[in-house]
Amino acid sequence: MLGLNYRGPYRVRMDRDRPIPEIQHPNDAIVQVVRSCICGSDVHLYHGLVPDTRVGTTFGHEFVGMVVETGPTVQNIKVGDMVLVPFNIGCGSCEYCKEGLYGNCNESNAMSTTSGGIFGYSHTTGGFDGGQAEFVRVPFADVGPYIVPPDIDLDDAVLLTDVVPTGYQAAEMGDIRTGDTVVVFGAGPVGIFAAKSAWLLGAGRVIVFDKEEYRLDFVRKYAQCEAYNFEAIDDVVWFIKKLTDWKGADVCIEAVGCEAVGRAEQTITGRLKLQGGSATAMVWAMNSVKRGGNVSVVGVYGPTGNLVPVGNMVNKGLTLRGNQASVKRHIPHLIEHIRAGRLNPKEIITHRVPMEEAAEAYHLFSNRLDGCIKAVLIPPSISY
Ligand SMILES: NC(=O)c1ccc[n+]([C@@H]2O[C@H](COP(=O)([O-])OP(=O)(O)OC[C@H]3O[C@@H](n4cnc5c(N)ncnc54)[C@H](O)[C@@H]3O)[C@@H](O)[C@H]2O)c1
Ligand SMILES: [Zn+2]
Ligand SMILES: [Zn+2]
Repeated sequence: MLGLNYRGPYRVRMDRDRPIPEIQHPNDAIVQVVRSCICGSDVHLYHGLVPDTRVGTTFGHEFVGMVVETGPTVQNIKVGDMVLVPFNIGCGSCEYCKEGLYGNCNESNAMSTTSGGIFGYSHTTGGFDGGQAEFVRVPFADVGPYIVPPDIDLDDAVLLTDVVPTGYQAAEMGDIRTGDTVVVFGAGPVGIFAAKSAWLLGAGRVIVFDKEEYRLDFVRKYAQCEAYNFEAIDDVVWFIKKLTDWKGADVCIEAVGCEAVGRAEQTITGRLKLQGGSATAMVWAMNSVKRGGNVSVVGVYGPTGNLVPVGNMVNKGLTLRGNQASVKRHIPHLIEHIRAGRLNPKEIITHRVPMEEAAEAYHLFSNRLDGCIKAVLIPPSISY
């Protein structure tokens, strides 16, 4: 089959002769991919920043596809079902999954005490091959996959595997109260949906920061928020305080992660591997939130320590929360928002790319070329 092959930092290629995955466990399913996205998280992998990313693995944790085979114990999905598959792999029965914390599953990546299993996201998260391929093996097939309702567009469905729920959970973890001022760092897909979700959860004002003008233009219209280019601002924290009558934001959402730019000392110490990437957006979030405010972090950081201002967290009484989104928990209510017209995820898709051209799509997306916000890969056999 066609499948992405990671060759080392900044190098991916599509191979045409990868073996089609097989059922390995009675509760596995094999899914034929019909839509597969490239995510900001894939960019960290592509740049070689995620530990134990092995040459030869297939990335891709945002995919929708048709079930083509099921193991003998699979009951909830059957051959022919069109399913959206959450990026995190949950066993459904450990203490975390039972609480709906599918993103923290204790069983799907049993060698780790930090992270549950994730499709196509290095051996640090279990070494599962991902969905930037024609077929994927889906473990715990009774738990994660969600049958796409016939009235839901596949382009919306594929965004429900990660960025829409992650943006929503980012806002939810901010514990927004009616009328709150919410600042979102990052106008990538995750930041865009965090901004949009902040309104759904009662924000009174939403302000987004990025440096890509085209993304700022998009989020201004799509999420009807204020949006500023941080490169045109001397001191972002001061600027946010000024915008908020010197109080600071009620809630700050960090939707950037370890490749944040904007502060030389962070970038340099990150590149020298003195810390796990650059924590610039994290620092801005912690410093520009009000006293007692909430900082919600969904930007990805590696396991290595970062130079974060922990003192501020203590002195300002911040609530600092972060998590991998528990996608499954959010799907039913997000579908209701889509049905009611309050959310229109597929509008963020700027590029539909034949899967054969995935390497070019990585280059385009990671360098933010050609107005790229979200790229969807379409396998050659798929005509819809
Ligand atoms: N926790 C989760 O469950 C989860 C899920 C999906 C993605 N993520 C992470 O969320 C982050 C965003 O994902 P994405 O797909 O939107 O990525 P993306 O790379 O498309 O967007 C990141 C944006 O941040 C901007 N940026 C860089 N430095 C900044 C700064 N200092 N302040 C404000 N903006 C800055 C970039 O210009 C870019 O537009 C990534 O770290 C990704 O790994 C986490
Ligand atoms: Zn993703
Ligand atoms: Zn579990």
